[in-house]
Amino acid sequence: MTDNVKAIPVIAIDGPSASGKGTVAQAVAGSLGFHYLDSGALYRIVGLAVVRARGNLENESEVLSILLKINIKFQRDQVLLDGADVAETIRAEPISAAASKVGALAQVRAALLARQHEFRQAPGLVADGRDMGSVVFPDSVLKIYLTASAEARAERRYKQLIGKGFDANMAALLQEIKLRDQRDSERAAAPLQKYTDAFEVDTTRLTVAQSIASVLDYYHRVTVN
Ligand code: C5P
Repeated sequence: MTDNVKAIPVIAIDGPSASGKGTVAQAVAGSLGFHYLDSGALYRIVGLAVVRARGNLENESEVLSILLKINIKFQRDQVLLDGADVAETIRAEPISAAASKVGALAQVRAALLARQHEFRQAPGLVADGRDMGSVVFPDSVLKIYLTASAEARAERRYKQLIGKGFDANMAALLQEIKLRDQRDSERAAAPLQKYTDAFEVDTTRLTVAQSIASVLDYYHRVTVN
């Protein structure tokens, strides 16, 4: 491990939609006193901005020009798009699909790279997404591939949406999750993959507390020396 990597360590938590990455990553960050990057929120904000501008989500130059005009800011629990809090709005299902579409565009991913690197600040960072360990922070001290069955993920997403007062339909959610998995893993730009240097944590039968403990346990093991 080089001094630089040790100085500001990154824990990369990648995995498919609704695998619990956000919950686990935030708790791990809280427990270690690290910063937290929700990279999916960036793609969701771009998706929302394009939907609002009635742009074409699959047109790279159009999406890029919208992205270059918007102002994105994370402030405590708020996610600000041009000054307005969109933390809840970006969680709605149509925006999940929009995020997945703009995430397939290579130039959009490149434009968001520097913004993600800015989150690497002392004493450390827990970053959650699809390509944290592969593209954004390849020198992460720990890479986790957090996953769960599509059915378990659809059920969690269902409960999450209902809890937030959104409409939800289980069968439609399962179908959307499978479609998003396929789009995220088959795209050419930074596809979702389990890399050989990542530890897999399958949370299908784990509680949230067990999932968090498992990641912390891996972290303590890799940093023991
Ligand atoms: O993680 P979350 O479900 O919020 O991500 C929303 C979408 O953003 C994903 O389906 C994926 O297509 C895209 N994304 C991505 N790369 C990341 C994080 C999210 O392509 N690092």
